[in-house]
Amino acid sequence: MITERVALVDGSPKMQAIRTIIENVADTDAMVLLRGESGVGKDLVARTIHAHSPRRDGPFVKVNCAAIPHGLLESELFGHEKGAFTGAHRRKPGQFEYAKGGTMYLDEIAELPLSLQAKLLHVLQDFRFARVGGHAMIDVDARVIAATNRDLERQMALGEFREDLYYRLNVVELRVPPLRERREEIPGLVELFLARFNEQYGRQKQISSETLTRLTEYSWSGNVRELENVVRRMVVLSDGEQAFDALAARDRNGHAAATPRPAAIFTESLRDIARRGAREAERKALAEVLERVRWNRAEASRILKVSYKTLLHKIAECDLTSPARRAV
Ligand SMILES: Nc1ncnc2c1ncn2[C@@H]1O[C@H](COP(=O)(O)OP(=O)(O)O)[C@@H](O)[C@H]1O
Ligand SMILES: [Mg+2]
Repeated sequence: MITERVALVDGSPKMQAIRTIIENVADTDAMVLLRGESGVGKDLVARTIHAHSPRRDGPFVKVNCAAIPHGLLESELFGHEKGAFTGAHRRKPGQFEYAKGGTMYLDEIAELPLSLQAKLLHVLQDFRFARVGGHAMIDVDARVIAATNRDLERQMALGEFREDLYYRLNVVELRVPPLRERREEIPGLVELFLARFNEQYGRQKQISSETLTRLTEYSWSGNVRELENVVRRMVVLSDGEQAFDALAARDRNGHAAATPRPAAIFTESLRDIARRGAREAERKALAEVLERVRWNRAEASRILKVSYKTLLHKIAECDLTSPARRAV
């Protein structure tokens, strides 16, 4: 089950080198520091390490240090005792306890406040910790993997990241390169995502060789995550390919890097994509039925099992016009 979710495409020498390191470190408990831009596949590499490790049957626990308010992060990681602070009505175990027997993945580690960096350093040295407000020591039984897209060297120079913690975490450093530096992987990734989304959405979308060429040449500042979204849209929406063409044209003219993208086309949420897909499908079905019954709306409303009023509303919403009106 896990292996399915961690299908790591490695069709470039750079990723093959990473794969080799993954295989070499997987069966140790060595700490790994993953670096690379957002969307390059750090989470996936972390999961792959876990899936290849002797801890694979244990939990994989991810804590995104940027997503949790600073004031709650210590308790999230290490848990707290009842009454440790206002609102601590009961004892709560931390994520380090939940990761017992498995892997603890600390994402966006650079966002950890300095006070917590100190505590984490101690925990990673002693492999023991106490819950907030508690004294009993709990053993850490987890492999620790950390990740960041930030320039840690610069943060250390600015005094924002502890050097000792950096060296502690950085037993094995893996830099996952941006997608634009391993373009030979793009066709394989497109194939993977195409198959995945065709299955997921029940489609048979194919991608033309011209589009594949453009996909291979595109700048991909959002890396694999952006590519994944582009392919998803091509599968779900009939204008997905056209939308990407427009984006690629801007990219070739050097606009994309300098100006924000129009309406951030490819950062649309999955829910919005699905909604647009549904609306498009609805419009198509409506147009087909109306065409079939020669725009007899009463008949169309019966076929579509909606009230006459709803049908008129839908016709207006989808901006459909009858041939009679079109002729006028
Ligand atoms: N080499 C790869 N093979 C297959 N899918 C990938 C690969 N790299 C990234 N992905 C997919 O791209 C998306 C972004 O990857 P993720 O690991 O979340 O990036 P990061 O943590 O670096 O921001 C995920 O859906 C992931 O599954
Ligand atoms: Mg990530």
